Amino acid sequence: MKMNDQFRISLSTTTVCLSLLLHLLAGGAAAALPRIVSFRNGFTQLFGSDTNLLRSDDDNSVRLHLDQYTGAGFRSSDLYNHGLFSARIKLPSDYTAGIVVAFYTSNGDVFEKTHDELDFEFLGNIKGKPWRFQTNLYGNGSTSRGREERYTLWFDPSKAYHRYTILWTSSKIIFYIDEVPIREILRTNEKGGDFPSKPMALYATIWDASNWATNGGKYKVNYKYAPFATEMTDLVLHGCISNPLQQLPTDNCVQMDQQLETIHYNNIVPKQRTAMKRFREKYMYYSYCYDTLRYPVPPPECVIDPVLRQRFKETGRPDFDRRHRRHSRKRSHGLSSQIYEIQDED
Ligand SMILES: *[C@@H]1O[C@H](CO)[C@@H](O)[C@H](O)[C@H]1NC(C)=O
Repeated sequence: MKMNDQFRISLSTTTVCLSLLLHLLAGGAAAALPRIVSFRNGFTQLFGSDTNLLRSDDDNSVRLHLDQYTGAGFRSSDLYNHGLFSARIKLPSDYTAGIVVAFYTSNGDVFEKTHDELDFEFLGNIKGKPWRFQTNLYGNGSTSRGREERYTLWFDPSKAYHRYTILWTSSKIIFYIDEVPIREILRTNEKGGDFPSKPMALYATIWDASNWATNGGKYKVNYKYAPFATEMTDLVLHGCISNPLQQLPTDNCVQMDQQLETIHYNNIVPKQRTAMKRFREKYMYYSYCYDTLRYPVPPPECVIDPVLRQRFKETGRPDFDRRHRRHSRKRSHGLSSQIYEIQDED
């Protein structure tokens, strides 16, 4: 083979690869790729003054401040019938007790009594203790049936941006941190109405939750350290824009739904499944599925992992918490919600 031929072959291979790639980008698959949306094109401020919500020059980043006067928040301008919602987020550093940064989907503004919700909630902490966070979901107003899981992280979320993602399709919900799926909830027939099914908007907020966020309100926000800033960038809204009062999904939404079922975020590959298992064994310190004091019969979507069952005991928390729990109960007579939170200290 002559030099020239070799060159031609590799060139044509490159051309084929490139055109295939471009085809994928331009064609059907392109729409399936998550879309970064500028603030102007996708969002509106929810609360806080102008100085509590600062937008970058290119309009792809937002900084939210909590100061002694107010927190701040924004929401997507539209509601989506299923979707992929994502942002790269950096949390406030140092002393953050009492602060909550929430990244979540909800339709509580439209459906007061029957709302749906999917949450990432970051719970501040005293200096030197790591950030903790929880994920949760509500469906059709199931607020009396919390489905909280709580975790620590394998990195310091105040030091660098990490991507937090909520995937919500008609068959499942997956919470991701970067490329690691940390929680997967499959829709079950038994769960029925408790699975979010009505259009939701994306929300991001920072607020003063002194009365519960850190050790059940033991540590309040200390405004000596204000303002507390969280930064969010490269926001992704990828779903079917939907009128919440419309009963049936449009054809467009049915198509988008099918696309969501095929994007790579929807298919957890074996390597990711291993990472998810490792994450849950190592960093999850509370799960409602194992909290038999709260749910004597675990809700139907719970898949009981024997390893975790061993670890979590009847409180839904690791074994070492039990001693602490009894101890706490003595101190705080019958304030059951406080007992719940105080255990978080560990
Ligand atoms: C949601 O709740 C309402 C009111 O309780 C009920 O009428 C409706 O059937 C529920 N929807 C689903 C999908 O379960």
